[in-house]
Amino acid sequence: MGETSLRMLKKVRMVTERIGHDILWVRRTESTNDLAWREADRGCADGTIVLAEEQTAGRGRLGRPWFCPPEKGILASVVLRPGLPADRAPLVTVCGALAVRDVATALTAVPAGIRWPNDVLLGGRKVAGVLVESRPQAGEAGPVFVLGIGLNVNVKESEFPEAIREEATSLDLAARRRVDRLEAARALVEALDGWYLRLRGGRTEELASAWREASAILRKRVEVTVGGETHRGTVEDLDPCEGVFLRLDRGQILRLRGEHVERLRLVDA
Ligand code: BTN
Repeated sequence: MGETSLRMLKKVRMVTERIGHDILWVRRTESTNDLAWREADRGCADGTIVLAEEQTAGRGRLGRPWFCPPEKGILASVVLRPGLPADRAPLVTVCGALAVRDVATALTAVPAGIRWPNDVLLGGRKVAGVLVESRPQAGEAGPVFVLGIGLNVNVKESEFPEAIREEATSLDLAARRRVDRLEAARALVEALDGWYLRLRGGRTEELASAWREASAILRKRVEVTVGGETHRGTVEDLDPCEGVFLRLDRGQILRLRGEHVERLRLVDA
């Protein structure tokens, strides 16, 4: 496949059950998550995808900005109606992170890992972020979710803002070759469909254990900042809905919930 606009994704044959039967592509928008909410409010189908070549106000967790130069990444938001109780929302993030992990590993031949709560790392650097938002919706069994994925594909090191240059990467950089965005987008949609079907089928233990195995932090020493307080310890266990169990250097176990984490970094043993 040659390098083409992601607009062509509509024309690519994809083997999926629920994700990507409807695709909305725009050249430029503030945030694909906002466009996806507009589509959700209009009653779009489960699995509808919104894609943009450029975002002018892309957002990450905790109101942070998401940066990606135009036409250099995948900026996608997927409307999901899994009929899941609100407290199971982290499982939607798990689906997105596992799908990105699959694609990043397959296209670069470098093992990708998931840094709780929502980052995908390649060679220790962040290649993608996942932002899940949810809203109750009248007449639905559970909240409606928008799963936003930002995946850096062809971003060069010099194109990242200086503040994140040392911590960010792209599929190209990790693979040391050109990675086709359309091919990556197709693979992402198919992988997401697979994980989402497991979620819809109630196979949550399978999701949780795949996610645990893909963890870049399990049994590692980390420094975590939550509510302005920084803790150091070793990650003993983690669960999508329960959070992380951190054995502090002082010996006690501290449980941390993903939504409150401001920063997490691996530290040397
Ligand atoms: C994070 O790392 O904090 C999550 C980043 C999520 C970015 C994606 S890009 C597509 C979608 N639209 C947005 O505004 N954000 C998500």
